[in-house]
Amino acid sequence: MMQEFDNRNKDIKIWIDGKLLNRDEAKISVFDSVVQGGDAVWEGIRVYDKKIFCFDEHLNRLMESAKSMGFEDIPSLGYIKDAVFSTLKANDMKDETHIRLTLTRGRKITSGMNPQLNQFGCTLIVLAEWKSSIYSGKTLKLVTANIRRNSPLCLDSRIHHANLINNILAKIEANHAGVDDAIMLDLNGFVAETNATNIFMIKNGNVYTPFPKSCLPGITRDLIIEICNNNNILILEKDISLTELYNADEVFTTGTMGELARVIEIDKRRIENKGGILIELQCLFRKLTEIEGERLTF
Ligand SMILES: Cc1ncc(COP(=O)(O)O)c(C=O)c1O
Repeated sequence: MMQEFDNRNKDIKIWIDGKLLNRDEAKISVFDSVVQGGDAVWEGIRVYDKKIFCFDEHLNRLMESAKSMGFEDIPSLGYIKDAVFSTLKANDMKDETHIRLTLTRGRKITSGMNPQLNQFGCTLIVLAEWKSSIYSGKTLKLVTANIRRNSPLCLDSRIHHANLINNILAKIEANHAGVDDAIMLDLNGFVAETNATNIFMIKNGNVYTPFPKSCLPGITRDLIIEICNNNNILILEKDISLTELYNADEVFTTGTMGELARVIEIDKRRIENKGGILIELQCLFRKLTEIEGERLTF
C-alpha cells in the first residue's frame, strides 16, 4: 500500500537527543550506528483520541530489544516517555498520529562495526507524524516472497531491530508482483508473517496464527489473541502452510501502522470472505482503541 505525503507533516518537529528540530533540520551523525550498520531498535506507536495506545507494551519491547542488542547507557523509561510526550505536545498531536520511536546504539568515534567504538551513549529519535491507519477501508493482495524470514537460528525476530533488509527484499518482491505486501515463510516453509505485519487465518469459526518463532510477536497480534480469548472465539497458534492459507475462510494482517486488514488474494488465489469473524474482531479492536492508552495531558 503506497503511502502519500500528508501536508500536515510539512512543519513537524522531531526529537533527537533532547532537541526538538524542524523536519528539515532533524539529522543524525554519519557516525551513528544506525547509519553504519542499521544498529538500532524501534517501535511504531499510535495515538488515538488523546491517548498513546499500548504505550507500556511498546516501551517494554523497545527496552528488551535494546538489552538483547547489548546497548549501553540506555535512557530511562521516564526519559523516553517524557521525550514522546514533549514531541506530541510540540506538534499538538492528540489523535490520528503515528510515532516512529528509534533508539540507536549511538555515535561512534570512527566508522566501524565494533560496538566498543560507541562511546557517547544511545541516540533517541521521536518522529511523530499525522497518519491514519494506512490500510483503512482497504483490502490487500499478497504474494509469497522467495526470501525467508529470519529464524532464531539467524536473528531472533523478538528483537525489533532497525536492520530491515530481510523484510525490504520481500517488499521489493511484492512491488515487482504489483501487490501490496509479501508473505514470508520460515526456514521450514511455514507461513511466518508478511514483510510488515503479522498474519491470521480463520477456518470454520476458529482463528489461527503462526507461532511467534519467525515473526515479530506483534503487540496488535497479542491484542487479537486477548480479544478472541475474552469473546469465546477459539484462537490457536500453529504451523500454517500456504495451502491452508489459500483455503481459509478469511485472512487478515495486523500491525500498529495498518491495524486489521482483510486479505483478498494470495499468489493469485482468491480468499473467500466467509464467516464475518474479521468484522467482529475489527469492531472489538476499535472499541479497545477507544478505551485503552496513556492519556495525554496537554
Ligand atoms: C515485521 C513486522 N511484523 C509485524 C509487525 C506488527 O507489530 P505491532 O502489532 O507491534 O505493530 C511489525 C511492526 O513493526 C513488523 O515490523
